[in-house]
Amino acid sequence: MKKNWWQEVVVYQIYPRSFKDSNGDGIGDIRGMIEELDYLEKLGVGAIWLSPVYQSPNDDNGYDISDYEAIMDEFGTMEDMDEFLREANKRNIKIIMDLVVNHTSDEHQWFVEAKKGKDNPYRDYYVWADPAEDGGVPNDLRSTFSGSAWEFDEESGQYYLHLFSKKQPDLNWENDDMRQAVYEMMNFWIEKGIGGFRLDVIDLVGKKPLEEITGNGPRLHEFLQEMNQATFGNHDLLTVGETWGATPEIAKLYSNPERKELSMVFQFEHIGLDQQPGKEKWDLQPVDIAQLKEILTKWQTELGNEGWNSLFWNNHDLPRMVSRWGNDQDYRVESAKMLAILLHMMKGTPYIYQGEEIGMTNTPIRDISEAEDIETINMYNERLEKGYSKEEIIHSINAKGRDNARRPMAWNGEKQGGFTSGTPWIALNENYKEINVEAALNDTNSIFYTYQNLIQLRKDNPIMVWGSFELVDTVDQVFSYYRKYEGECWLIVTNFSNEEQPFISEDEIEEVIIQNDKEKITTLREITLRPWQAFVVKVK
Ligand code: GLC
Ligand code: CA
Repeated sequence: MKKNWWQEVVVYQIYPRSFKDSNGDGIGDIRGMIEELDYLEKLGVGAIWLSPVYQSPNDDNGYDISDYEAIMDEFGTMEDMDEFLREANKRNIKIIMDLVVNHTSDEHQWFVEAKKGKDNPYRDYYVWADPAEDGGVPNDLRSTFSGSAWEFDEESGQYYLHLFSKKQPDLNWENDDMRQAVYEMMNFWIEKGIGGFRLDVIDLVGKKPLEEITGNGPRLHEFLQEMNQATFGNHDLLTVGETWGATPEIAKLYSNPERKELSMVFQFEHIGLDQQPGKEKWDLQPVDIAQLKEILTKWQTELGNEGWNSLFWNNHDLPRMVSRWGNDQDYRVESAKMLAILLHMMKGTPYIYQGEEIGMTNTPIRDISEAEDIETINMYNERLEKGYSKEEIIHSINAKGRDNARRPMAWNGEKQGGFTSGTPWIALNENYKEINVEAALNDTNSIFYTYQNLIQLRKDNPIMVWGSFELVDTVDQVFSYYRKYEGECWLIVTNFSNEEQPFISEDEIEEVIIQNDKEKITTLREITLRPWQAFVVKVK
């Protein structure tokens, strides 16, 4: 496989609304992001995945786009965006734009036109269907944000499809003109000098809604090959698809370089481990570490040369991993560092979600009035109606709700954590006085420096990028593996639990690469790992 820049970098995800507010209106913005580029340069990241900054009525915080070639007023102007690109590029940081083309906002000009009538030229840009014989919805397809995926349009007497909120009508990818319009828009951004695209719920674009096929539809890969040719194919860009249903076999279809589709995909198999099989993410169960090891090992070994992994614990849709599978009470620092070491030492491109690098935690709510997220609020109402108790639902929200990751970034211990001089659009986590960027930078032992160190190690050691992966047989709660490259061998050992765990190896330590506590590792013969202990050693 040819070596690509996007295999060597670490990517940092910014959720602009919650990153940094520059003008006191309580909403993060582009000028705020420009102010903090030096911080990201210090961390060492090579790319930023930018959640949507396009014009949007914010029904789903920017994932409902009303104009792809304009910037959301609250975030700034196109001039600000151009400056952000320039300033980032100066620091060797590429900008990966979030490409949301499974749907638009219902306020997008295309949909405004489409609603005008069945013979409007834009009508077929969207998915319409006649009522069922009884006059009801065409079929049983459900929206990810609760309720039917079909919304009735009085004027034309037809339903339109929305796999997300009813303000996010699905585009009809069967329409050639629509696809060409999307490619033109993508080229508009490529010409600005961006570093690539993160393709939102891209596995849905080949859908056959009347046959109730949504993910992995028949023409999906044909569309992606066409897109590749019409847009990023001739540029050296990172493209990463969000693909909830991907198995390694499916991932290869997207990312085998010979097929000319995408650089890599986000797979979510490990993310589903703490939900009851066949149920929703809100139906909780504890994660089984043995299973986690099995799944991640499968992904580490099965892609071979036909694909490349993306590595992540967090994003704007997921709860904070330190609260979820780590321990944000007694072992916050240890478990956050352990999660970082475990992930960054694997084979693939690591992604960091804003605040992860300082160990930001989930933010529990007591009442639904504290929630902002449409998915959370709709689910709450749906489950109340079904007879769940309020306590039960709030418990699920605190474990899995998307607002957990969307609390403002804490920059210092002052008022509103230095995020805004005004009133934030959503409250900060109360622990911001302790957990913030300034505190992290002032403490040489902080989680931040573990991330910084991991990113630097990656730049200095090709084994971290290109080495093979081999799981080591251990007790369930210990996650250990080798990376091997050109005669060199690294051993990664992590304790994924609150208890001490045994570890035994015949290997001789040649050099300690990184560890999450101060006591230096000197031997691997029959050792006892402290809770959440993690280290990497070069071995003979
Ligand atoms: C993706 C995004 C999520 C959004 C949804 C609809 O899953 O990550 O935030 O709500 O797509 O665009
Ligand atoms: Ca602002």
